[in-house]
Parts: sequence; C-alpha cells; structure tokens
Amino acid sequence: MKPTYYITTPIYYPSDKLHIGHSYTTVVCDTLARYKRMRGFDVFYLTGTDEHGQKIEQKAKEAGLSPKEYIDKIVGSIKELWELMDIRYDRFIRTTDDYHVEAIQRIFKALYDKGEIYKGTYTGHYCKPCESFWTDSQLKNGKCPDCGREVERAGEEAYFFRLSKYTRRILDLYEQNPEFLQPKARVNEMINNFLKPGLEDLCVSRTSFSWGVPVDFDPGHVVYVWVDALSNYITALGYENDRFDDFNRYWPADLHMMAKEIIRFHSIIWPALLMALELPLPKQVYGHGWLLFGGDKMSKSKGNVVDPVVLCNRYGVDAVRYYLLREVPFGQDGNFSNEALIGRINSDLANDLGNLVSRSVAMAGRYFPEGLEPGKEKAPLDDGLVAMAEALKATVEREVEALQLPAALTEIFKFISRTNKYIDETAPWALAKDEASRARLCGVIYNLLECIRISAVLLTPFLPHTAPVILLQIGAGGDEGLASWESAGKFGLLPGGVKVNKGETLFPRIDLEKELGELEALGAPVKEAEAAKKSAPQNEPVPGTVSLIEIGDFARIELRVAQVTACEPVPKADKLLRLTLNDGTDTPRQVVSGIAGFYSPADLIGKKLIAVANLKPAKLRGVESNGMILAADSGDGARVIFVDGDIPCGSKIR
Ligand code: ME8
Ligand code: MG
Repeated sequence: MKPTYYITTPIYYPSDKLHIGHSYTTVVCDTLARYKRMRGFDVFYLTGTDEHGQKIEQKAKEAGLSPKEYIDKIVGSIKELWELMDIRYDRFIRTTDDYHVEAIQRIFKALYDKGEIYKGTYTGHYCKPCESFWTDSQLKNGKCPDCGREVERAGEEAYFFRLSKYTRRILDLYEQNPEFLQPKARVNEMINNFLKPGLEDLCVSRTSFSWGVPVDFDPGHVVYVWVDALSNYITALGYENDRFDDFNRYWPADLHMMAKEIIRFHSIIWPALLMALELPLPKQVYGHGWLLFGGDKMSKSKGNVVDPVVLCNRYGVDAVRYYLLREVPFGQDGNFSNEALIGRINSDLANDLGNLVSRSVAMAGRYFPEGLEPGKEKAPLDDGLVAMAEALKATVEREVEALQLPAALTEIFKFISRTNKYIDETAPWALAKDEASRARLCGVIYNLLECIRISAVLLTPFLPHTAPVILLQIGAGGDEGLASWESAGKFGLLPGGVKVNKGETLFPRIDLEKELGELEALGAPVKEAEAAKKSAPQNEPVPGTVSLIEIGDFARIELRVAQVTACEPVPKADKLLRLTLNDGTDTPRQVVSGIAGFYSPADLIGKKLIAVANLKPAKLRGVESNGMILAADSGDGARVIFVDGDIPCGSKIR
C-alpha cells in the first residue's frame, strides 16, 4: 500500500473576490501535493469554502440576496480560479453542504454529552470581520488584537467549550512534538500570548444571528463559525457522516497549511477540540507569512488587491506560480509587486530556462534533423555537469521536504544557469563547422537535452503546464519513464537517437515599461512606487513638474479638522511646538510641528486646523508625534491653515 499524504488549505470565506494572497496558499499546497504524488504517495488535497457566520449574512443582506444565493456565485468563481491556476485538489468542501452540517450537529452533541461543552452566559467583545470573540485582557487599545478594528460588546446565553482545561496538554504538545507547529517563531507567539496567561473557555454558540449550523437540541443557537470551519478537515473525509469513507485512510492530516493570522485557531483550538473528541492530532500546522502589497497585508478593504485572474491571463499560470513559489521567503512576509513579477519572468523564465530550451532544441534540430547519432564523444569538461545533474534530485527533495520551496527552485535554476554556461564552454556552433568534431557535437547536444530533461522533471510540481511542454520539445514527450520523479536521479536515460520537436517560445520576454502602463490602464492596481517611478524616473519629482496621482492615492491620506487644546514649546528645540489636538475621537492627539519660529502657543490654542490623521508616528527630539498639521510654505515661513470655527472636530477633508 502507498503511504498517504493528507494536506489542506484553509477553507476560504466567500465574502470577497480572492486575491493573489489566497492563491499563494493553494499554489504552495498544490505544489507539495504534486510532488508527493510524483514520489508515490496516496495524496489527498483538500480545500473549500467557509460559508457561515454573521459577516456573510450581512454581506448577503447588503447585496439583497439570501446568504446561499450570495455565496453560490462567489464559490463558483473560486472554483474557476482554482481551475485556471491548475490547482489539483481532491475534494472541495463547502460548509453549507448537507453532510457537513449534519456532521457538525453530531460533533457538537457528542461534545455536549461528554461534558466538554456546557451552557453559560457570554459577555465579551466581538470583532465581526474576524468572527472572533475577545476578553477585556485580550483587546489591544480597546480594539481587536488581530486586525485593530472596532469591537462590539456582546452578551448572550451561550454554550462553552472547556478550552481552559487543555492549556497544559497544548503546552506539552508543543514541547514533546516540535514538528507540530512551524515555523518555530509561531510557537513562542502562542505560548506567550495565549498559553502562559492560561486559556479561557471558548464560547461556541451564538444566538445573535442565524446564518450558521443550528444546534439541533437547542433552537435559536447556531454553532460558532470556527468550530464549524475547523471541523471541515475531518467531515470532508467522512467523519460523522455517510457521504464519504476516507477518514481512516487519511486522518490524521500530514499538513494544515495557512497564513499566520489563523494559527491560533489551528494550533490551540483545533487540537483541543480533537483531544476532546479523542481523535489523533494533525502532524503539522504551518503558518506561512503574508503576501504584502506596498508594505501592507493585502485585503480588499485596503484596496490593494491583485487579481490572480488578470495575472494568469496575462502571463500564464506557471509564471504566476513560479513567482509566488520563488519570490516569497517561505514562512516570512514577502512583498508582491508587478515589477518584481515581470522581472522574474524575464530573468529566470524567459532568459535562463526559456533560452536554454530554445537554444538547445534549435541546435539539435539544425545539426541533427533526423535525431541524434550513435557515437557520442565525452570530454572531461562534462563530468562536473553530469555530477551536478545527478545530485540535484536529492537536493530538491531535501528542500521540498523542509517546505523550502524557494530554495528548491533556486537549486534547480542554479543548475539551469550551469547548463547555459556549458553551451558557452563547448561552443557547439564551432564544433559544427568541422566534420571531425561531429561525435563530440552529438555528445554535447545529448548532454544538454539530458540536463533539460532532469530540470523539467524536477520542475513538474512547480510548473505543471510548462514541464510537459519542455519534455515534448526535447523529444521525451509521452514517455513515463523519462518523466517520473525517479528518472531525475539518473543521467543518460534519453534514448541515443532522440529527435527534438521545435515548439513555441515558453516564456516570451515582457517589455516592463509597456506592461506596467497596460496594467494600469486595465485598472489593475500597480504599486504606488511603480506608478510614481513612471511619471518621474529615479523616484524623485522632476524639478518644476508635478507627478499626477490617482484619486485613490489622495483618499489614502486621512485629513481631519482638529482643535488645538494645548500647546507648548518642546524643550531644547527652538523650532518645535508640541500641540495637543481634539480630532473628534476620545483620545487627545499629540503632534509636534516645526512652527515655533512663526507662532507662539497663545496664537494657536483654541484654533481649528487640519491634521493628517493616518501618518505613521514619529519621534521628534524624543517627543512622539502622531500626525502633522497642514501649513502653507509662504517662501519665508510657515503659515498654518486655520479653518472656520463652526466646522466640527473630526470632520473629514475630501
Ligand atoms: O481565515 N498572504 O479564511 P480567509 C498570504 N475561513 N496568504 C493569504 C493572504 C495574504 N495576503 N490573504 C489570505 C479564513 N491568505 C477562514 C479559515 S480554516 C478552518 C478557516 C490565505 O478567506 C492564507 O492561507 O480569510 C490565510 O490563512 C487564508 O487565506 C485566510 O483565508
Ligand atoms: Mg482572513
């Protein structure tokens, strides 16, 4: 029997269009799944959608649809995206699927019957966007500690899961099983932020809305969406339902993959639920970093979404996959930029890989139109290349097993560069001029094709479209024995008389400037820096010109009317004043401004002016400044822009 490998992505909220950050997780998992399949594992790759909860109920209402109508459309587009991106999952679970709903009801009842769930009263703070409840001590400055948004007070009769009693067991789990939670840094976060202070029982039912799995023995209650969602990993296999029968075969999961913001649910709540159900625990939970866009976590609300559909249609799926897998240091945050994506396509895919294949295939076709010939001559120069080729498979395996997909690709591309260099070293065009070198020429071309074959095989999990095309072009198409993972460890498998098939360019070069212009015209968000660069090369304004910005760029600056409630000079800084502002919020805002040469405190107190409210805090002469105030530069000094006293504090300037 084949060994099994069960890998999962999170199930995604169908509340917004998915962005390239969501695709990141599915592409990583798909690559791992393909790799394991090639290595002979019986792989089960699960993904799906997380369809319950107040947030979705509300979005549907805003759209004037029932939740199910609203979701169905989005789920359709999610499935299309995975198809477009060549994500080969084995099952797609929707938490509104009947079998899942029934299984959740059974799980909830079983936990209640065992005394793991009890009835009580819930009071706390609820963050709607995160679907998370927080206690007083968990809030950060009164806001959601995960996303920083406003929370609301909530109190209701509710069921509780005895999470508190699992504190010790979870700590033991991390200690005895260092592989369980990766990368390492996440372990300390969990211990320091949640386990050391001691876990509290978890509220696992709601009565304030109805879009959820009903608690069948207590009408009016619906199951907390995270209990519903986490359980997908077992219900999708058939746990507590008759729809599927894969639980014994695949559980426990080998790997739950996700980004770091939901690690808490997967590394604390999920194992505790499984312990309560007396089920084996997953072998590993991995929290990768975020894909950032212009330095921020991507999200629709921040308006910096990059649409994977647009990118795949323009560059091809494999180019996008390659970029995601290669560019983001695995486990850490990584910045997405259209410029870097195009750069990778041009340098690695078009230049290194594409050129190697097209040059080699062209030479093979030109010099050996009927196929290679017997009598290949070797030279000492070949030894290093062949040794590198044969060692590559083991190196790639080591990196992939450690989930270091960027490192695995780096190794493959080092080898591709080495092979390109071999062309320059052997100069086949010179050999071709002399009939006496024909056997050597044949040996060189064979080596090139064999190196390409090995690279293509090892690239198959990463570039599932391109690898078979390469194999076809070098004359190895359709032969399982030349495409199997094992075959990558052996140099010399291509038949001696192999005949190439010239094909299309694998990755056409992209004109960066032109492309960025077209992306912008399409309305695809281009990183501000890129946009700025285009209107003013060197990233600096050209003297005498003003670079144009989008209305959205202006909208990102939060300008508010504020009243000066206190003002004093900053000690030992003759240019600075420290102002205290009422900006319409409950918290006084302190701003340091370089206007002491032009205004005295008495000139300012009581006046209303305009403050930039979302500027990153800075320290000026050791005094913290939260924002700045607007002043005109009159040429010989600063003139503060005062506003009419009637305008209320906090009014937004647009
Ligand atoms: O959290 N960078 O769903 P979700 C990298 N339904 N990965 C990102 C990302 C980014 N900028 N943005 C999203 C949920 N992701 C719950 C999960 S599981 C039982 C329930 C990926 O739609 C990443 O994998 O908000 C992250 O964990 C996941 O999308 C969250 O998707
Ligand atoms: Mg999220």
